[in-house]
Amino acid sequence: MFELVPTKPFDGQKPGTSGLRKKVTVFQQPHYAENFIQSIFDSLEGFAGKTLVIGGDGRYYNSHIVQIAIRMAAANGFGRVIVGQGGLLSTPAASHLIRKNAAFGGIILSASHNPGGPDGDFGIKYNASNGGPAPEKITDAIFAKTKTISTYKTLDTQDIDINKIGEIELANIIVEVVDPVSDYAALMQTLFDFDAIGDLFKSGFKMKFDGMGAITGPYANRIFEDILGAKNVVMNGVPLPDFGGHHPDPNLVHAKELCDLILSSSGPDFGAASDGDGDRNLIIGRNMYVTPSDSLAIIAANAQLAPAYAAGIAGVARSMPTSCAADLVAKKLGVPSFETPTGWKFFGNLLDAGMATVCGEESFGTGSNHVREKDGVWAVLMWLNILAKRRESVEKIVKSHWLEYGRNFYTRHDYEEVDLARANDLMNNLRKSLSGFVGKNGIKTADDFSYRDPVDRSFTEGQGIRLVYENGSRIIYRLSGTGTAGATLRVYIEKYEADVAKHNIETQAALADLIGQANSIAAIQANTGRAAPTVIT
Ligand code: G1P
Ligand code: ZN
Repeated sequence: MFELVPTKPFDGQKPGTSGLRKKVTVFQQPHYAENFIQSIFDSLEGFAGKTLVIGGDGRYYNSHIVQIAIRMAAANGFGRVIVGQGGLLSTPAASHLIRKNAAFGGIILSASHNPGGPDGDFGIKYNASNGGPAPEKITDAIFAKTKTISTYKTLDTQDIDINKIGEIELANIIVEVVDPVSDYAALMQTLFDFDAIGDLFKSGFKMKFDGMGAITGPYANRIFEDILGAKNVVMNGVPLPDFGGHHPDPNLVHAKELCDLILSSSGPDFGAASDGDGDRNLIIGRNMYVTPSDSLAIIAANAQLAPAYAAGIAGVARSMPTSCAADLVAKKLGVPSFETPTGWKFFGNLLDAGMATVCGEESFGTGSNHVREKDGVWAVLMWLNILAKRRESVEKIVKSHWLEYGRNFYTRHDYEEVDLARANDLMNNLRKSLSGFVGKNGIKTADDFSYRDPVDRSFTEGQGIRLVYENGSRIIYRLSGTGTAGATLRVYIEKYEADVAKHNIETQAALADLIGQANSIAAIQANTGRAAPTVIT
């Protein structure tokens, strides 16, 4: 029944910020996915007889690759596979299942917020036994294996029925099909004050949640409507292989329908959305969009209102490009703040070591030590918990936060699908000129961000060009590690404003000066051929 299939290496199977991400058409090449999955298994040791969690965000090709992964797990000697019904699991729910079942690890099928469908993107990611994305040590090993692979192991068997909850025996393993939502929903109930949130909804509080045709629809339906009793909350709540044509990235551009609804003076009180695989979140209140950086800071400042965090948080971690707003909260709380490279994998050690409790990224990612991934629905529940306890509007909560801490104006300008060579040139030119920037226009320091992990001492470099001004303003340039076509240049711009009289200026206007400098310093227009960013968040 077991088969050893001969194969040849493919170029470019290098895991990026978050696993291997390519066009569906690339994954459709014979043996392409199998090679990568075998390379994952070949990079691991000691999993014989152990449990592997498998699931994905339901995008096109998910159901096909789930079957391949199950067969290969069996042939490679795992003892049990836990798979979400229909092959579905949100990324945070997969992280939780790994932890809850003390699994050896998990394979998550997702390209996160990237579009799906036959012409869209697909992705495969390995998560370790702590439930978090594999650290670089493992992703480097996987990449090395993909370059020398000559065979993969699989099982000669038909697809198995993973639409029914229960256990199936397959060769030497048990395949356990689980409800994708139940365990996750139960975890959420241990973290937050569901009674208080239920009372908030009973009092007439109105919310809309946009599932964007992706994985979180079933989670939102169960948690917000069935358990918490809110009515008519979920829009685009059925996971579809092409996400119903949505680009499932919860931001002001791609969640426009939701934002238009909430950002009006007669709209619902609260709006939220999540991405393709359920780890990102968008938070908006009536007339008030909350930047992810502010959301992290506000969550850190108010976490103790939720039962699981009532004793206080141990520390806050943010990715380097995320605004410094959370640092100010950590300082006031008297807890450490950490600045890590981009990507959730860098938070794992801090969370495992109990050094940080709450983590976040400017890219609509927020989470805590309850799992080892960012978690969209968690962030929404955290906000609901805060709203239920404070009984103030989102706008009031945000503005009083700025009043107390000052406001970190923040924007990110993305230039998508830029010519790769030109983007690399732009970054290399900046890198070469670093010392020349210092002292000009108030720039205090200029560097290429590197990070020494305080737990395992591993070192990561080349994580983004960072210009820091005397007054704390920052301009950061980095290239995306998740795109599948050309290069995406990300420019992050931040300015601190203590003066409350200036807190209500529109963000792009407040940052106009710095935006101009960011454009001219990197000669973005000349180097990319683009007059304006593709997406501004
Ligand atoms: C992007 C975000 C990053 C996030 C990652 C996965 O990566 O910027 O914060 O962790 O997606 O969701 P990038 O494309 O910038 O490498
Ligand atoms: Zn995601």
